[in-house]
Amino acid sequence: MALIAILPGDGIGPEVTREARRVLEQVGDFDFEEASVGGAAYRETGHPLPDATLALAKRSDAVLFGAIGDPEFESLERSLRPEAALLGIRKELGLFANLRPAKLFAGLEEASSLRPEIARSIDVMIVRELTGDVYFGEKGQGTTDAGLREGHDLMRYDEAEVARIARVGFETAKRRKGLLCSVDKANVLETSQLWRDVVIEISAEYPDVSLSHMYVDNAAMQLVRDPGQFDVIVTGNLFGDILSDQASMCAGSIGMLPSASLAGEGGLGMYEPIHGSAPDIAGQGKANPCAAILSAAMLLRYSLGMTDAADRIEAAVAKAIADGARTADLGGTLSTGAMADAVLGALA
Ligand code: NAI
Ligand code: MG
Repeated sequence: MALIAILPGDGIGPEVTREARRVLEQVGDFDFEEASVGGAAYRETGHPLPDATLALAKRSDAVLFGAIGDPEFESLERSLRPEAALLGIRKELGLFANLRPAKLFAGLEEASSLRPEIARSIDVMIVRELTGDVYFGEKGQGTTDAGLREGHDLMRYDEAEVARIARVGFETAKRRKGLLCSVDKANVLETSQLWRDVVIEISAEYPDVSLSHMYVDNAAMQLVRDPGQFDVIVTGNLFGDILSDQASMCAGSIGMLPSASLAGEGGLGMYEPIHGSAPDIAGQGKANPCAAILSAAMLLRYSLGMTDAADRIEAAVAKAIADGARTADLGGTLSTGAMADAVLGALA
C-alpha cells in the first residue's frame, strides 16, 4: 500500500491537510503517517525540520505538505525559522520543479480580481524552479566601509539547473497547447541572460513547442491584461513565487491553487497549496481547503499514477463550486470543514 507522508506544518496547514486527507481516504486505501514541520516542530523539538520528519518524507511514496510560517518564530535566526524547513526539505529531496496550475473554476468569476470575460481565459501552468536563485544563494548582513548596515542575497544559476527546469517546461508545454513562455529579466540580470541562452539551446530538442521570452515586469502586467495568452510559463524561483500568487487572484483566490514539487523522472514528489500559513485566519476554520485538496489530486496523478481518482477529485471540486459552495475568500460563509464536506458530497 502506498505510504503518504503528511506534514501539516503550522497556521492553517493542519486545518487544510486534515480535509485533503479525508478526500484521499474516500478515493483509495493508503497508509498515512504524519510528522511535524515548521513552527509545530520547533515547538516540539527545537528545530523546524527534525531528522525524523525528513526520514519519513524520504521513505514515503509521496508527501502532502500543509504550510508553515508561524510568526511567533520570525525573530529567530534564519536557519531556525519555520520557512527554513521548507527550503531544507525542497533541497534535501531535490525538488527542483514546482508545477503551479492556475485556472478559473466555473462560478468563481465574481471572486476573481479580473473582469469575468478575462478571468475565464486563464489556464496557465507556471513551472517554477525551486532549489536555486536568491533563495539559496550566499546571503548575509554586514556593515559597509562607511559604517552603514547592508544586506545581500546572491542570485545564481548554473547551466545544468536551468537546462533541467527548461526541459520540464518544454515537456509540460508539449502535453498542453505547445506554447512555452520563458520569463526572466535578461535586460538587467546576468543570471537571466544565462537562463535565456540555455532555454534557447534546449529549445532545439523541442521543435514542436513554440518558445517565447518575456521580461518579468511585463509578464506581471500581461498576466492581468490577457492571461489567456499563456499556456506554460517557465521561470526562476523568485519570479515564479511572485507571479503564481498574482495568478491566483486571476483565478479567484490563493486558496484555490495547488502545486506539485518534483525531483524529475521517478523521483519523490511533494504536494502543497501555494499559499502560506495565513496567520491572520489560522485557528478560525475559515481557510479554503481546495488548494490542499487539489494538491492531493496532483499527488495521485504525478506520484501514484492514479489518474482516474485525480480526475474525480478535480471534478468534485468543480461541482461543489458550481453548486455554490464558497469559503470566505470566495465570498461565501462555509467553514473549512463544510467546504470539504461539499467536495466529499460531490465525490460520492
Ligand atoms: P499567506 O499565503 O499565508 O497569506 C496571504 C493572504 O491570503 C492572507 O490574507 C491569508 O489569510 C490568505 N490566504 C492564504 N491561504 C488561504 C486559504 N487557504 N484560504 C483563505 N485565505 C487564504 O502569505 P503571507 O501572509 O505572506 O505569509 C504568512 C506566512 O506563511 C509567512 O510566515 C510566510 O513566510 C509563510 N509562507 C509559507 C509558505 C509555505 O508554507 N509554502 C508559502 C508562502 C508563505
Ligand atoms: Mg509564495
